[in-house]
Amino acid sequence: MEVINIDLKDRSYPIYICNNMLDDIGKVVCRHTKSKRIYLVTDTNVYPLYYEKVKAILNNAGFDVSKFVIPAGESSKNLDMLKNILEDIYKSGLLRDGSIIALGGGVVGDIAGFAAATYMRGVDFIQIPTTLLAQVDSSVGGKVGVNLRGGKNIVGAFHQPKMVYIDTSNLRTLNKREILGGLAEIIKYGVIWDKELFEYLEYNMDEILNLNDEMITHIIKKSCVIKGKVVSLDEKEQKLRQILNYGHTVGHAIEALTGYEKYIHGEAVAIGMVYAAKLSLKKSLIDKEYFDRICALIKKSGLPVEYGELHKEDIVELIRHDKKNKNDKIRFVLPVGYGKVDIFEVNKDEILSILD
Ligand SMILES: NC(=O)c1ccc[n+]([C@@H]2O[C@H](COP(=O)([O-])OP(=O)(O)OC[C@H]3O[C@@H](n4cnc5c(N)ncnc54)[C@H](O)[C@@H]3O)[C@@H](O)[C@H]2O)c1
Ligand SMILES: [Zn+2]
Repeated sequence: MEVINIDLKDRSYPIYICNNMLDDIGKVVCRHTKSKRIYLVTDTNVYPLYYEKVKAILNNAGFDVSKFVIPAGESSKNLDMLKNILEDIYKSGLLRDGSIIALGGGVVGDIAGFAAATYMRGVDFIQIPTTLLAQVDSSVGGKVGVNLRGGKNIVGAFHQPKMVYIDTSNLRTLNKREILGGLAEIIKYGVIWDKELFEYLEYNMDEILNLNDEMITHIIKKSCVIKGKVVSLDEKEQKLRQILNYGHTVGHAIEALTGYEKYIHGEAVAIGMVYAAKLSLKKSLIDKEYFDRICALIKKSGLPVEYGELHKEDIVELIRHDKKNKNDKIRFVLPVGYGKVDIFEVNKDEILSILD
């Protein structure tokens, strides 16, 4: 088992990474809980795959476990569902010394984490992420929350978990498309922070796509270290943490314009990363060779690189309404060299010019 420590002073916590070691989880969870009461949130896809096993292990370790199963999918990440969860937690009798566990992907992690942040003004939270995206991104960093109608992640909090437990063998039941969605975020880390990771992905993509255990563990670990580092330097997103939005400005617009149906998040981010790199090339921040390598890596993974039928004017309009933009300047995270990005303010015309 590998352990990474996320350094956030008194809110520091470990990320355990293992392969097929869920049996171990009872012992590990004991180290990070104040009482033997656990309230677990999962979804309808993950429940039949892993719930009974996790529950039996936790029971064996002396825990009393209650559960809530949300319908799988982004549409569950809303205030009504949060209310149902909170009412049920209260009914179950969970006290301030109890812990809430998220067993599932980013949807479960975000809503269970927000329940943990708000129930009795905050109880301990544990993440057991089961999608690649959740393992390398959403379970690290403490952002939790739900969507409002028409606004993603508008209501939320920062609530760091007490521990994260990643079992890479859970990825075996995940479909290929969801694996690629997580891979897009891993490629992102290579571009924003780590040339070695970028080259590792270039060199080993075929085996990674075959879920080679050692390689998957390596890239998950690298990703958690990078996200952990960025978060520990800028927990509340004053500045540095914004670099994690590389590919997300155009990506979010594409997701919204297609009604969150045509593309999963990672696919939209992959397309967004290509267009942000194009903007870098246009501004001579990177050379053609690096631009080509970014595009080639994304293509090699099987992720999309073009936005298809959409109108570029609509994309720009949506970007301008993005909550992260001030005035008329649009903030973009742009590659400026291998493993390095910076934040630029660009105008509408510059964006239109690269969307062709
Ligand atoms: N908090 C953050 O910092 C942060 C960062 C990135 C994304 N997010 C959020 O994460 C969410 C997306 O997360 P996601 O991509 O994990 O989506 P998800 O939670 O919807 O999971 C994707 C699908 O995989 C299924 N699934 C999960 N684990 C499985 C497994 N092991 N085997 C088979 N099926 C499995 C789920 O039921 C779901 O159908 C979004 O709501 C996004 O806003 C949050
Ligand atoms: Zn993302």
